[in-house]
Amino acid sequence: MIELKGVSKEFDARGVRMLALDTIDLAVEAEEFVALVGPSGCGKSTVLNLVSGLLRPTRGEVRYDGAPVSGPNRRVGYMTQKDTLLPWRTVEDNIGIALELKCRAVPSAERRERVSAMMDLVGLSGFAHHYPAELSGGMRKRAALARMLIYEPETFLLDEPFGALDAQLKLIMHQELLRLTRARKLTVVFVTHDLAEAITLADRVLVFTGRPGRIRAERKIPFGRERDAVRLRFLPEFGALHEELWDELKDEVVKGTEA
Ligand SMILES: Nc1ncnc2c1ncn2[C@@H]1O[C@H](COP(=O)(O)OP(=O)(O)OP(=O)(O)O)[C@@H](O)[C@H]1O
Ligand SMILES: [Mg+2]
Repeated sequence: MIELKGVSKEFDARGVRMLALDTIDLAVEAEEFVALVGPSGCGKSTVLNLVSGLLRPTRGEVRYDGAPVSGPNRRVGYMTQKDTLLPWRTVEDNIGIALELKCRAVPSAERRERVSAMMDLVGLSGFAHHYPAELSGGMRKRAALARMLIYEPETFLLDEPFGALDAQLKLIMHQELLRLTRARKLTVVFVTHDLAEAITLADRVLVFTGRPGRIRAERKIPFGRERDAVRLRFLPEFGALHEELWDELKDEVVKGTEA
């Protein structure tokens, strides 16, 4: 579904060329859930920006469902690292925005119903009329997630979506996301700093090197989609995978702190 072939991305950092991603080859199958982990600044968000069509590669090719990505990719839902809720719209009007903008706008009664169901799902009912500035960091993240879910895209690009959530809510969101991936046959690229979260959710975990980002290691996660996000981490296989991947990741993180 998603293919990066020999992709490099350079940025112009105040007149100096900076290589952020170095010759990445990455293919994500339809209905596959791939997690990206790696040290800060290694280019994880840049990968999502390329797949969503917000950025173009300096070298190489990005394809989606067989066609080159040459502009905003409307078949993906992208929850960016920094939330982009509109400050002048209430929570419900932020969440419902895709249903207003979509070419065939959804009638307002149906829109209200879907927005309300979505607010229940992410635990924001009661905050419909609040503005983003009146929410906590975790609540803003949940509103941004709801805004993406309501659009029902076939592919999710999620950049640290649960980073600001408390541990309990995070588990509930993990279970919900696993359920959604099964029910809607989603393709997902998920960026996280939390290795346990990556193993809990993904079919495959990719470890990136520090900048310039390259793929250092890759592990299949053999738990299937029917897994239970809470019980999984008590399995010995979970611990073994965590240890193996941490060995790869730790090296890169330590290198970053020495640089
Ligand atoms: N639009 C941009 N213009 C200039 N430099 C950029 C731009 N976007 C990213 N970069 C640089 O590219 C590198 C990779 O950034 P990116 O945001 O992809 O990292 P990341 O892996 O997502 O990091 P983090 O885990 O901290 O979110 C960084 O050095 C960053 O400064
Ligand atoms: Mg990032």
